[in-house]
Amino acid sequence: MSTFLPGVPSRRLALRPTLLALSAAASFGAAQAQGQPPLKVGLMLPATGTFAALGDMIERGFRLYVQEQGGKLGGREIQYFRVDDESDPSKATDNVNKLIKRDNVDVIVGTVHSGVALAMARAAKESNTMLIVPNAGADALTGAMCAPHIFRSSFSNWQPGYAMGVVAGQKGVKRAMTITWNYAAGAESTKGFTEGLEKSGGKVVKDLNLPFPNVEFQALLTEIAAQKPDAVYAFFAGGGAVKFVKDYAAAGLNKTIPLYGPGFLTDGTLEAQGASAQNMLTTLHYADDLNTPKNNAFRKAYALAYKSQPDVYAVQGYDAAQILGAGLKAVNGDIAKRDQMSAAMRKITVDSPRGKFTISPAGNPVQDIYLREVKGNNNEFRSVAVKSLSDPARGCKL
Ligand code: BEZ
Repeated sequence: MSTFLPGVPSRRLALRPTLLALSAAASFGAAQAQGQPPLKVGLMLPATGTFAALGDMIERGFRLYVQEQGGKLGGREIQYFRVDDESDPSKATDNVNKLIKRDNVDVIVGTVHSGVALAMARAAKESNTMLIVPNAGADALTGAMCAPHIFRSSFSNWQPGYAMGVVAGQKGVKRAMTITWNYAAGAESTKGFTEGLEKSGGKVVKDLNLPFPNVEFQALLTEIAAQKPDAVYAFFAGGGAVKFVKDYAAAGLNKTIPLYGPGFLTDGTLEAQGASAQNMLTTLHYADDLNTPKNNAFRKAYALAYKSQPDVYAVQGYDAAQILGAGLKAVNGDIAKRDQMSAAMRKITVDSPRGKFTISPAGNPVQDIYLREVKGNNNEFRSVAVKSLSDPARGCKL
């Protein structure tokens, strides 16, 4: 799918005249930062496996924002270091230490998989390295494991799950089933859904799961057909989401039992899912057709740079770079002033393609969660499912 060469900036973006004009107007702070060496950014993302496309999108979004700033954040050139984490928690500590100990990076950006991200957070805390999570929703990252230098530009697993539970309740769902991979993200997403559904008296009658990243769904689909719930809530993403949505439709279940999910079920997957995903309802902090100047500009710039359409993962990568940029700007590029930088990052309002959002004291976005409907290759906005939703940040002590 890609004409994108990691490490090679798009010439189109690098040379745009508006960006040259912006750098000509560089602030005194940026001038101070000029004497400093490049800022080392460690990107730890999946480049292989079921989440590979998600990692690619995040990197593209991150680099797009940096290019729009003339290749610098807070006046500092950016030097990238990359590790493929393979979405494998058993390799996560070794992988993150390649960035922390071998490459000596200033900041880590990653990753997609919650289990990998939890290991990254432990290593980041031990070494006092700043970590910006551009996807993984593990609740503990901005809950029990929260730390002054840990931020997330995406969501907690609880957020879209809870919103979908609220919507399902409003639609009269009384008996639901859930199905997911057996790991932190699946468990937390379905827990959020259950909590939202129970608010209106509905309940989850059975939770089904299978090991990550297994996609042999047949036996579980047979069980759903036998139980006949009012609705099914599924957490899958990437290649697994493509296969699940297609299998659900091939079994004929989409005709009688609505399939709901967090937006990962249909984001970045629609071309491959085709007819099987049409009219599906999901909840997420982004919708493709948000008609705002920021989203329109972002989508145009992304399409120009990469000759393809962005998705929620690209937005999260773009916003990770925005958050880092705001922090660096506050300290004129001097990342040694980490406490001052982190404090500034908690005060910003991020002007995101998803809409403006703030950062909670625990470091997680406080954001609107949208109800979307699949039409063609787009997740179209239908309504705001829950306004300014803040993660409960259970167990966070700063
Ligand atoms: C997670 O592991 O947290 C996750 C992976 C893909 C999409 C959303 C969440």
